[in-house]
Order: sequence, then structure tokens, then C-alpha cells
Amino acid sequence: MIDHKLAEDLKKRAKEGDTAVLRSAELKSLFDQLKTLPADERGAFGQAVNKLRTELTELLNQAKDEAEELAPIDITAPLDINTPRPELLPSEQGSQHPLMAELATILDIFYRMGFTAVESREIDDDYHMFGSLNFPEDHPARDDYDTFMTTQTDVHGKPFIAPAHTSIMQNRVMKAGKAGLEAGQAIAAVIPGRVFRNEDLDARHEHTFYQLEGVYVDKGIHAGNLIATLKTFLQEYYGKELDVKTQPFYFPFTEPSFELTVSCPFCDKKGCHICSRTGWIELLGCGMIHPNVLKEAGIDPNEYTGFAWGMGIDRLVMMKYGIEDVRHFESGRLDFLRQFS
Ligand code: DAH
Repeated sequence: MIDHKLAEDLKKRAKEGDTAVLRSAELKSLFDQLKTLPADERGAFGQAVNKLRTELTELLNQAKDEAEELAPIDITAPLDINTPRPELLPSEQGSQHPLMAELATILDIFYRMGFTAVESREIDDDYHMFGSLNFPEDHPARDDYDTFMTTQTDVHGKPFIAPAHTSIMQNRVMKAGKAGLEAGQAIAAVIPGRVFRNEDLDARHEHTFYQLEGVYVDKGIHAGNLIATLKTFLQEYYGKELDVKTQPFYFPFTEPSFELTVSCPFCDKKGCHICSRTGWIELLGCGMIHPNVLKEAGIDPNEYTGFAWGMGIDRLVMMKYGIEDVRHFESGRLDFLRQFS
């Protein structure tokens, strides 16, 4: 007769839905055993083995039906309706992406400094990408923002644009804040967003990355406010005293424009692989909002002044943790991501 324990083990596997049981070495060994038996025992044993195989097939079908009952797939259902019940999920849970976790920290610092957050967008038009930011038509400065465009055009006959910077939101934020500004409430907004560039990829360049734009407008605002705001933020984020320097730069939407350089928070100016052994890092672009940009948003530049900046969030986070390659963020590499979970 068939070994009782062996038969029970096989049935248990079938009940659990293990389809490999029909091809298992154990089942095959029973058929092999059949051939070795004396002729008068073969009939009964053969029947028993066939019966067992039928039972296993039925148990497998039952297990399949039960699994489908647990997780019926409705392809028309929205969102996570089709998500299997937790007992069918692997036990390891996911975690927040490090960039999003750091963004929460960054925004929290700016909230405490009186800024509100406005989300950027991932598809836009020529006016917000260039026109509203004082880029004349066909101006070579547009070449610095080489990004992706649709072949389909908008009502002005221009392509839609995957934004190359979060500055696309400046005009919108200032228009929205104008009434408040005139009632005595400064415009103070930070704008996180995903941006795109047609880049050759390397350890420092990605086609997709994140920026945080800042816009501040009120009466009597000057470059000293800009530098103090950014220095305060950076010291809070890195949790230490830092030195900052400004260098003159050119952006069409600010005048004057600066590049802000910060002492390396990783090595405190000693020189390391993060700061290319110089002790300093060119971190972000900033400046006093150009009068034409204020005017375009309906704000009188004779009465109000403001500052703006745009910083790469990936860069900021790389400097905090000594991450050597920006491509890790979008790579989906679990060994990288798990270090932050
Ligand atoms: N949009 C610029 C870039 O991506 C960064 C920038 C510079 C933003 C100066 C600003 C600014 O708001 O004032 O290169």
C-alpha cells in the first residue's frame, strides 16, 4: 500500500496550491514502485496511485478557486481594489523614497520660516517656461534649458514642455499672491517639483531630478535678505554653522543674479570627494527678481522687490549623506534605497 505519511505530505502540498506536486519525485517514485511489484499486487496499487493523483488534482483546483475568491481581479476597478489581501503579500514592507523623506524635512524648515509650499507641475507651456521669465524669443539663454517637448502644439502653435526648472511657477505664485501683497502680506512660497533636462548622464547629471524654487516679494526686500534666508535654511538642514559666498552669474529672470557657494557640510572645508577637494560647493542659482518678471505678474517693481532661488534637491541630499552618484535615486536599486528606510 501507499505509504500513509507520503500520501498526506503530497495532499498537504496540493492544498497549499503547490502545482509542482503533480510532477514531484515522490509521486513519480510511486509509479516506479508499481513496475517492481509482483503481478497480483499491481492492480490494487495502481488503482491507489491513480486515485491519489486524482485527489491531488482536485485539491489543487480547490486551492486555485480559493485563491481567486480571495483576490478576484476586476480589471475595471480603480486604484488598489485588486490588491491582494495582506496575508498573500510578502511580509517585507516598502518605505518612503529618500528624496521624499528629505523633502518633508526641507519643507518643514521653510514652514517654520514662514513659507508656504506650492506644488510644481510636470507639463507646461512656452510662456511659463520662458516668456514670463524674461527670456526673449530666440534668445540663446533658452539653450541652457534643453528639455523634452511634445510634437503636438498648443493654441499658440508652441509645443508643450516638460519643465527644465521649477521657475515655471514664479509667475503663477506671484499672480496668486498679488492681492495679499497689496493688503500687506508678503509673498513667501517654496515650490518643490520634478524637472527634466536633455542631459548626457553621468554621476552628476540625470535627465529627471527635483528642484525647490523659492519666491519672496514684499516692500524693501534686498539681497541681504536673500543670503540670510538661504544661509539660515542650509544651517538648519545640515545642522551646523556654514559659510556662504556669492558669485555673480546670469539668469534672465533675476538682476542681479548670483550663484551661491557654501562651505562643504561633509568635510567642513577640509576638502573631500563631495566637494572635489576644494572645501566649497556651488549649490544654487538665485537673485533679485527682475523688474520685468514682477511686471509680468502684475506687481509694480517700483513699489515691491523680491528674491528667488532654485536649488537641486538631489544635490542637497547627496551632500548630506555623501552619495556619490545622482543616478542612484532613480535607479530602483533596493540595496541603495534600503539604507534610508
Ligand atoms: N531656474 C534656475 C535653473 O534651474 C535656477 C534659478 C536661478 C532659480 C535663479 C531662481 C533664480 O528662482 O532666481 O538653473
